[in-house]
Amino acid sequence: MKKFVRNVATKAVLVAVVFLVCSCRTGGGPERMYMKGKVKMEVTKEAFGKTGDGQDVDLYTLTNANGVRARIMTYGGTVLSLDVPDKKGRLGDVVLGYETLAEYIKDSPYFGCIVGRYGNRIGKGRFMLNGIAYSLAKNNGENHLHGGLKGFDKVVWAARPFTEAEAVGLRLSYLSKDGEEGYPGNLACTVTYTLTNNDELKVGYEAQTDKPTPVNLTQHSYFNLAGQGNGDILGHQLMLNAERFTPVDKGLTPTGELRSVKGTPMDFTRPTAIGARVNRKDEQLIFGGGYDHNWVLNKAGANEMTPAARVYEPKSGRVMEVLTTEPGIQFYCGNFLDGKNVGKGGKVYKHRYGFCLETQHFPDSPNKPMFPSTILNPGQKYQTETIYRFYTE
Ligand code: GLA
Repeated sequence: MKKFVRNVATKAVLVAVVFLVCSCRTGGGPERMYMKGKVKMEVTKEAFGKTGDGQDVDLYTLTNANGVRARIMTYGGTVLSLDVPDKKGRLGDVVLGYETLAEYIKDSPYFGCIVGRYGNRIGKGRFMLNGIAYSLAKNNGENHLHGGLKGFDKVVWAARPFTEAEAVGLRLSYLSKDGEEGYPGNLACTVTYTLTNNDELKVGYEAQTDKPTPVNLTQHSYFNLAGQGNGDILGHQLMLNAERFTPVDKGLTPTGELRSVKGTPMDFTRPTAIGARVNRKDEQLIFGGGYDHNWVLNKAGANEMTPAARVYEPKSGRVMEVLTTEPGIQFYCGNFLDGKNVGKGGKVYKHRYGFCLETQHFPDSPNKPMFPSTILNPGQKYQTETIYRFYTE
């Protein structure tokens, strides 16, 4: 009898341990499996808290027919989590982020957000446009970075969910007022996230203005295809469809040159581990503290949707492809992560635990007449699209 009780007790403990391990691994809830075409497509909504000034923030969960899931909140248009399958069909969260709104508001290095009105740096926070000098908020030494002190990552977007035959999505809009962070013109922006049954997360950006203004919108997800918090990203193999990049000065602002990647650690024309050359004593890598540069994408024609990047993580077998209509891509390998950000499931994000692939126009274009223009004029429509596609091999 005693033995029987002991056996039952041991089994109960075992079941509890297994359940706990599974819950911890996925950051809450038991492990979910990829089920091609077997899952109910849906978009659900829940309240996610309030900003400091009392605005309601909502969290939307997009689920495709395979169980791939993206959670997106209206604060910053931020992707909180993105569950995609590994080669064994286990769904795992591949983006860094927090569990609560308060943590995003307190201190986020742009985890998963929309960046605007201008992604990356505008040197010395100033530019001339049609003979008028504009000065912008400086939030990165003497430079303006990612839209300033209160960029599009720190505002609440209006949201409208939608369902299509083979996709679910969320349409976010925000009106950036004339003068916001120093920019001219009222800029009406829409960002549409679409999660397709091909396991793609598409991000469509649109904007219109009533005065000429620079615009350069992007998405700042930090990826780790081994699963968020599961080690550094140095073993990920990256390929970039680019033969040139835009070298930077010490302050990480482009010099204006388009330089060949040939024979340099910036050459990702063939799949190469991110960590293979990241610590080389190369001037550009020293300035960036690692990779934090814009690559000039090989384009068939301006504004054409073309492959930009491909990343493969050998342990999980996960692949992410990035396609875009944009001319450039910022590859940042999490050089500023230092273990102070504790994310979902208590995971500590240490140095280079995530990488970003921010599709964009080149940094500092308003001061670089030789770069493709980022100026949007009244009557014109800003329209770009980027696709993050996931599969395994
Ligand atoms: C971009 C910038 C980096 C850094 C990160 C966020 O990639 O180029 O310098 O600001 O965003 O920390």
